[in-house]
Amino acid sequence: MAFDQKEFQSIIDEFTIDGERLREIAANFRQDLKLGLASPEESSLRMLKSYVGLPTGKEKGEYLALDFGGTNVRVLRIRLEGAGKYEVVKKVAKPLRVDGEYDYVGAGAKAEEMFDFLADLIDEAIDGDHGTKYLLGHTFSFPSEQTDLYNAKLIIWTKEFATAGVEGKVVNDLLEEALSRKGIRNVEPVAVINDTVAVLLSAAYKQDRVYIGSIYATGHNTCYLEPYEDSAEPPMILNLESGGFSKLAPNHYDTLLDESSEKPGEQRLEKMASGRYMGELFSMTLGTLFGDEKENYGFTSIDMSGIISDASEELDEVASIVSGKAGRTPDRAERQDIQKLAKTILNRSARLVTATFVGIVWQLAGKGDVTEQHVAVDGSVYEKMPGAKEDIMRALSELLGQDAPKVDTVLDNGGSGLGAAIAAAMAQKG
Ligand code: BGC
Repeated sequence: MAFDQKEFQSIIDEFTIDGERLREIAANFRQDLKLGLASPEESSLRMLKSYVGLPTGKEKGEYLALDFGGTNVRVLRIRLEGAGKYEVVKKVAKPLRVDGEYDYVGAGAKAEEMFDFLADLIDEAIDGDHGTKYLLGHTFSFPSEQTDLYNAKLIIWTKEFATAGVEGKVVNDLLEEALSRKGIRNVEPVAVINDTVAVLLSAAYKQDRVYIGSIYATGHNTCYLEPYEDSAEPPMILNLESGGFSKLAPNHYDTLLDESSEKPGEQRLEKMASGRYMGELFSMTLGTLFGDEKENYGFTSIDMSGIISDASEELDEVASIVSGKAGRTPDRAERQDIQKLAKTILNRSARLVTATFVGIVWQLAGKGDVTEQHVAVDGSVYEKMPGAKEDIMRALSELLGQDAPKVDTVLDNGGSGLGAAIAAAMAQKG
């Protein structure tokens, strides 16, 4: 039995962004950027100051990098060798939640427990050595209000994190307190940066012509180097918190998803585009098609990857993923529709993300020409979701027309860690 085609088509239409609408979104994003610079209260972008510009590529020395922002926390010891080179000397990683064992991100978790967990991981990364002095760069991937490179206060949790006692606090103070509870006095947190800033620092350490950094993963966000032309201020990276961009037209499913999320009304773009939410949107649409609106099948973006990449004649992988989660084995026509649905939801996400990139590129160009540049991107959706990069390239060329050859996206894998080490080195220079 095939799906009701009228219903199917109407869902596809809800998730389709045509060329005209795409251009409008890019223009609205640019407009919000301008507002954010001039009168922030009117913009849906937070445009948070990072208190750091671009590195020279000559930064050197061994630093600790704490990468905190998704379900996995990493601590790395990184030796910067200058000339864009570096070596990861040690790396430890642990999930923040293991079902049935512990959970540091749910509403029942407390700040102290979470930061003690981070301090233990740091101890592991330095092999329990409490003598050698280490400067630590902290990639903290949530909206934070900064007054300098050290002081970052968490404004609001995103990505469904809910740990009590962190919102409104200076995160590096919480970290320092935990380090001192554990007797680790030789590790000094000196810098906090957002993961998008880390990606931009990391890419700019290795190559020229990078001014925009983005994460396209569990969460989504972008930063750029604001040149502050016509002003005495030095160039500085601004964390846009573009996941909060709200001048969009959410469809029926976006609205349902938002209403059932930890923070309704927040992170509207992120909830339409990032990996954390794409699987949920997909689950909801399948619920409609199966006539089971209330059912939450729990599909993830990894399931969507598997569904999209199935190139077999009978779409067996699609069938097995869907029957595993939804308890129904779709027939061949339904499998095709399901694959199309997953591709369409991903395509909308990639087009939205691209529209924001282009909004920034236009803003940076001002009245002049678009500058040749690479947009640095890291994250599982960008790196691993089949078709995501191609969808971005197509949308770039649709929006930029003859300027399209000047702009491409480059993967900056592991930028969150390297960027933290670079920030620590930059903090040291004062
Ligand atoms: C956070 C951003 C972060 C992004 C990617 C969003 O939920 O608000 O600060 O950069 O996720 O990790």
